Amino acid sequence: MDKLIIEGGHVLEGEVNINGAKNSAVAILPASILAGATCTIKNLPDIRDVANIMDILMQLGADVKRESHDRMIINSNSINTYKVDFELSKKLRASYYFIGALLGRFKKAEVPFPGGCDIGVRPIDQHIKGFEALGAKITIEHGVIRAEAKELIGASIFLDVVSVGATINIMLAACLAKGTTTIENAAKEPYIVDTANFLNALGANIKGAGTDEIKIRGVEQLGGCEHTIIPDQMEAGTYMIAAAASKGNVLIKNIIPTHLDSISAKMKEMGIEIIENGDSLRVVANGRPKAVNIKTMPYPGFPTDLQQPMSVLLSVADGTAIITESIYDGRFKHVDELKKMGAKINVEGRIAVIEGIQKLSGAPLCATDLRAGAAMVVAGLSAEGQTIISNLTHIDRGYERLENKLVELGAVIRRVSEEDR
Ligand code: EPU
Repeated sequence: MDKLIIEGGHVLEGEVNINGAKNSAVAILPASILAGATCTIKNLPDIRDVANIMDILMQLGADVKRESHDRMIINSNSINTYKVDFELSKKLRASYYFIGALLGRFKKAEVPFPGGCDIGVRPIDQHIKGFEALGAKITIEHGVIRAEAKELIGASIFLDVVSVGATINIMLAACLAKGTTTIENAAKEPYIVDTANFLNALGANIKGAGTDEIKIRGVEQLGGCEHTIIPDQMEAGTYMIAAAASKGNVLIKNIIPTHLDSISAKMKEMGIEIIENGDSLRVVANGRPKAVNIKTMPYPGFPTDLQQPMSVLLSVADGTAIITESIYDGRFKHVDELKKMGAKINVEGRIAVIEGIQKLSGAPLCATDLRAGAAMVVAGLSAEGQTIISNLTHIDRGYERLENKLVELGAVIRRVSEEDR
C-alpha cells in the first residue's frame, strides 16, 4: 500500500497543465461501443479509472490500443459479449455506462452493480426509468443489472433528479433507438456536452446537450471518429484551491475557464485573485482567505466534487463558513480526518459549520474517497509539519501524476510504498 508523505508549508508557484476530464473519459470510452468501428480518443487522462474502463472494453472483445499515455484507439466492431465481468465492474462507478452503450448497440446488457466512491446513497433508479421508457425490460438478480429489448423506441423522459449518469446513459441507449427521445430536467455538466459531441461525431443526432432538455433523434447506424476530451474542471479546481491554500501564485493551463466560473467566483469572494487569460487562469493568494458560505448544486452551481478540497481552505479562513452539501448525504467523511489536523468543523446531516483557524497541523490521514483524498493533499500542503496519507487507490483513480505535478510547483511530497519505508 502506497502512502504520500507531505512536508507542509511550501508555497506553490509556477505552471500546471490540466489533463482531460475523468468524468468525460469514463463516459466516452464506453460510448465507443456504439460506433462498431474505430474511434481515436485524445487528451485522455492517465488515471486508474481509464485503465479500468479499458480492461472492460478488452474483456468485451474490443480491440484497444493505448498509443500513448493520452491517446487510445478502440475498434468496438469485434465486441463479442454483452456481459461485463463482476470484478471489473465494481472497480469504478462509471461501469454503469456499459448498460446504456451495450443496450443501445446489442439491445442486451448484463452489468454488475458499479463500485466507486462511498459518498452516500447512489441509486441508479433514474437510469433504469430511462431504459424502461425506451422499451427495455430490466431485471436485477445476484447483483447484476440485466437490460433487454426487442427494439428501443424513443420516448419522453423527465428525470426526477438532475443526474449526470442518468442523462448520459439515456443518451447512449437512445442514439440508435427508433424515433425521438427527449430528456427533460437533464444535467448540464460539461461532460454531457462532451459526450454528446462525441456521439454526434459518430453520426448521432443529439441537440440541446448543456441545457435541461436534450433531444436525441435515433439514427440507423453510427461510425468511427476522432475526439479530444475536454479539460478536467475538477482537477483544475483542485489545483486552484491548493494554490490558494499554500498562499501561492499558480498558472493553471489548458482549461476552459467558463467551466470553472462557480469556483472562480467563490475564490474571488474569499479575496483570492483570479486572472483569466484565454485557456488558462492564474490564482494569486496573499493573505488569509475570507470565510464564505457554499452550497453544492448541479452545474453550473458549485460542484460537490470540490466541496471537500474547498472545506480545507475554509478551515484556515478568517471567520465562520457554512457548507451545505445538497447532492450527496455522505460527503463529509473527510471531516474527521481534518479534525486530526486541528480543524474546527461541526457536521449536522448535510451541513458543516467551519470555524476558521490560523493553521492546520500535519497528521497521519486516510483518504476515504477520491475528492476526500484530494482535500487531504491540499490540507497537508498548507499544514505545519508532516502529513502522511494512506489508502491512495481512490486518488489514483482520478488524478494523473498528482504528486509529480505538485513537486513541479514547489511542494515537498513523495510517494512511498510499504517496502520503501
Ligand atoms: N441520483 C438518484 N437516482 C439516480 C441517479 C442519481 O437519486 O438514478 C441522485 C444521486 O444519489 C445524487 C444525485 O442524484 O444525489 C446526483 O447524482 P449523479 O447521477 O449526477 O451522480 P453520478 O452520475 O453517479 C457523477 C460523477 C461524480 C459527481 C456527480 C455529481 C461520474 C463517473 N461521476 O456521478 O463524480 O460527484 O456526477 O456531479 O461522472 C468524482 O469525480 O469524484 C465523482 C464522484
